[in-house]
Amino acid sequence: MEGMETRVLMAVCILLGLVSVGVAAPGSATFYKPHQPSDCHRVKEPGPMVAAASDSLWSNGAICGKKFNVTCLGPPSTGEKFPCKGSVIVTVVDRCASPRCETTLELSRPAFNKIVNPKLVKIIIDYKMV
Ligand SMILES: *[C@@H]1O[C@H](CO)[C@@H](O)[C@H](O)[C@H]1NC(C)=O
Repeated sequence: MEGMETRVLMAVCILLGLVSVGVAAPGSATFYKPHQPSDCHRVKEPGPMVAAASDSLWSNGAICGKKFNVTCLGPPSTGEKFPCKGSVIVTVVDRCASPRCETTLELSRPAFNKIVNPKLVKIIIDYKMV
């Protein structure tokens, strides 16, 4: 009986995961320097617009190679000059593992700088799988 409940719970989680695809979710972003080897073994570097996914998105690596539209919403605290410059499409090429990782997505410098004033180190984002 317990095994059955576990399976049902897993099915519900998978369903929720599927439902959330395509819907914008709130999160935060910092930047990092992409490196090799990455935790996404079969994904080729698609160019400079890349990101590392936190454990909340990692899904055992199923996220590797997926593309996200990341939109800057502003700095985490008020008082800083509104820095946002729109959205960027990034491909997940690595993992940003807890506890070191304290953000939803780590963006490459070119991707981070495209959507925000580069003087900031952390921003609030909306992200959507595309
Ligand atoms: C990314 O999302 C933003 C905000 O929803 C939207 O304005 C923009 O058109 C999207 N870009 C792409 C390429 O889908």
